[in-house]
Amino acid sequence: MPIPITLDHQPVVPDDVDLVVLGVRAGHLAADAPGLDIALAALAGFEGNVAQTLVAQTNDGARLLVGLGAEPDPTEFRRIGAAVAKGSLKQETVAVDLLGHLEGADRVAAAGTLAEGLALGTYSFADYKDPPPATVIASVIVVAKGGRKVADAVARGAMIAGAMGLVRDLVNTPGGDLTPSAFAEQAEEVAAEVGLEIEILDRAAIAEAGLGGLLGVARGSSQEPRFVTLTHRPVGRPKGSIALVGKGVTFDSGGLSIKTTAGMEWMKGDMAGAATVLGAMSLVPTLAPRMLVTAYLPLTDNMLGPDATRVGDVLRARNGKTIEVLNTDAEGRLILADALALAAEAEPDAIIDLATLTGACVVALGERTAGVMGNHADLQERVLDAAGAAGEDMWPLPFPAHLRKTIDSEIADLRNLGTSGLGGALTAGIFLQEFVADVPWVHLDIAGPADTTVAYDENSRGGTGYGVRTLVNVLTAWTKLPA
Ligand code: BES
Ligand code: MN
Ligand code: ZN
Repeated sequence: MPIPITLDHQPVVPDDVDLVVLGVRAGHLAADAPGLDIALAALAGFEGNVAQTLVAQTNDGARLLVGLGAEPDPTEFRRIGAAVAKGSLKQETVAVDLLGHLEGADRVAAAGTLAEGLALGTYSFADYKDPPPATVIASVIVVAKGGRKVADAVARGAMIAGAMGLVRDLVNTPGGDLTPSAFAEQAEEVAAEVGLEIEILDRAAIAEAGLGGLLGVARGSSQEPRFVTLTHRPVGRPKGSIALVGKGVTFDSGGLSIKTTAGMEWMKGDMAGAATVLGAMSLVPTLAPRMLVTAYLPLTDNMLGPDATRVGDVLRARNGKTIEVLNTDAEGRLILADALALAAEAEPDAIIDLATLTGACVVALGERTAGVMGNHADLQERVLDAAGAAGEDMWPLPFPAHLRKTIDSEIADLRNLGTSGLGGALTAGIFLQEFVADVPWVHLDIAGPADTTVAYDENSRGGTGYGVRTLVNVLTAWTKLPA
């Protein structure tokens, strides 16, 4: 279900709204909320700290107060927006009057992150609830002077949140319903809606194209795999060309190397990389129209049907390299092998892949931070900067060449599992590198932040939409890499 609110911008508070929200800076309660009973606010623990909320009487009547902290910082307005949305869910029309506490460029930036937070804060996954949880919030007006720039930032924030909502829905939808073919149909809908070229390969076409990794993972399932390619082609000469690759395992049971029940609980979300790429692609025609962007999405589930890939089987990937499968639960790298090889064949300026690839990355960096590896320092720096500006936590992992020999196979070119079992996130990255040829490439292991077991900031339990904002930042700021 799409995020159910509309966001608008107006220079002054309209008088026909159901709720007005006021921003209050820590240490400035009396000035920012005239008439507020400070002692009562203190009793409720309200100090104006970031994203604290309080319903209180002011000189102008009842208001929802939201804390902005002592010195309002645009990057905090996502969680401030989400707190406002959560505090306003029972109102139909809400005016949010708090950007007056910021100046100039900060105000424009805060308008964008605020809009994202307001929209994301209303998100809930209700496709299987009848009736859905009662929220009546329908329209939010961001009040700010600043004209066009602020209005554009609000519209852009709402749009980005919309794409993140799509990613969350895909991640949250059960694997039995979001099958590879169902995912491909969703991609078709997005492509039709925003105007992207799309090509969908079925099992026979996947075999024809030599995508032996994807085929090998899919053979354990009665669900047909799909390989989706989406393209945004700019009018005129592109500013640059980027390939986005996303792991699309619609359910990961582990295959014959089967997981435990607990280990499978979140594995409907093992297509988060593909969903994130689809979400970002939906924004490209509007936000990065001059870029040539191609998305490669290998889609399958990882099951253990009667013809499932056996431990010890050898698969041949798109680039001709053979892979001995020593653990069928290391399936992500098998399908990414084909997708990365296809992406590299087109010789784009850069390849960025996103994948819920390893539990080891979650052990290393926790649930909120993605691991970054790659073959090109400048590109990696750019992606890290883009993530920083997007407020998405990302951290570089080492990428030691000595690990390459740990994926040597006795009978094939590669094995899909390191010999030591240690440094699993790095070994997976080293494996992927075998398929990108010489194209500048960054790998994002999003196994941690793609979903969350607890709600925090603007995130609800389940899919987060992590990665969309980083990709948008990379694409919109793109210039040719130094040679
Ligand atoms: N989809 C999992 C990785 C994962 C684990 C994502 C936990 C999110 C949370 C991946 O396919 C997998 O099973 N990886 C194995 C690799 C191992 C067999 C080398 C893992 O991490 O245990
Ligand atoms: Mn797996
Ligand atoms: Zn997986």
